Amino acid sequence: MDKKVRLKKDMKEKQELVNIILDRYLPRKDEYPKTIHKAMRYSIFAGGKRIRPYLTMSTYEIYRKEVDKIVPVAAAIEMLHTYSLIHDDLPDIDNDDYRRGKKSCHILFGEGQALLAGDALLVSSFDLITLSEIKSEYKVNFVRELAEVAGVNGLIGGQMIDIESEGKKVDQKTINYIHNNKTAKLIQLSVRFGAIAGGAPDSELKALEDYGGKMGLAFQIADDLLDIEGTPDELGKSVGKDKIEGKATYPSVFGIAASKSKLQELIKEARESIAPLGEKAELLDALAEYMLTRKS
Ligand code: IPE
Ligand code: IPE
Ligand code: MG
Ligand code: MG
Ligand code: MG
Repeated sequence: MDKKVRLKKDMKEKQELVNIILDRYLPRKDEYPKTIHKAMRYSIFAGGKRIRPYLTMSTYEIYRKEVDKIVPVAAAIEMLHTYSLIHDDLPDIDNDDYRRGKKSCHILFGEGQALLAGDALLVSSFDLITLSEIKSEYKVNFVRELAEVAGVNGLIGGQMIDIESEGKKVDQKTINYIHNNKTAKLIQLSVRFGAIAGGAPDSELKALEDYGGKMGLAFQIADDLLDIEGTPDELGKSVGKDKIEGKATYPSVFGIAASKSKLQELIKEARESIAPLGEKAELLDALAEYMLTRKS
């Protein structure tokens, strides 16, 4: 089977596995207090690509076949990511009305409700890691590492500089800080969790982490480019807003052409990082290639 077709099939299968665990874990919609559970489920099942859980699961699968064991960890990362999107869309942050092809959480449920739904998904992500069946020593480390990457030295720090940079001209150091912290670190950690839980040897763990870091930065550069060149239908979110809001993006600092070259270079480097792993990293390699052409 063609590599691209295999990737598509594998992504779909793994999406389903993650969705099953998320559905099992999250309280039912009619459980009291209903609105919080409705809002959490609404955003979780609105149709995300599940890239981060895919990275965790497919990295783990390089080393171990019993992928079920890692699904809760992958699902936990997706909950944390979804919290970050709900909060990112709030009027005080990016003020976006559409997400994942639907109305944003706060448009449908109200701002306070969306804030709390995000909070609940964030704390639930740590809970779900502790419920997974990976070794307990890994669990403690994963909770700690996730807290670090989600916190002020990661996603929240990146988001903070992102909002403080609105309407300002930022330098290269600042844009790289924003992108690495708000996006790349969590993507890199998604790979790392899969590699550690799978028992990757040190040299391969290092190669996979390199891959994850490069993919993470590439992912946000592609997101910035899609805000300029994508369509709302395909993307499932508004386009053209970064420019209107004066957001610090790769194209705003380096221009569109240089951003595209940087994206290509990062993908090339990401693929080179895992080349020593050979055939067994074939799907990760295919995912890197897909980053260059993704439309959503
Ligand atoms: C969007 O992430 C936010 C960024 C970090 C660029 P995704 O593009 O992974 O969004 P979903 O999960 O598929 O909706
Ligand atoms: C989002 O960056 C990063 C997060 C951590 C949520 P963006 O603000 O560019 O993401 P989109 O374009 O709204 O998905
Ligand atoms: Mg944002
Ligand atoms: Mg945004
Ligand atoms: Mg964006």
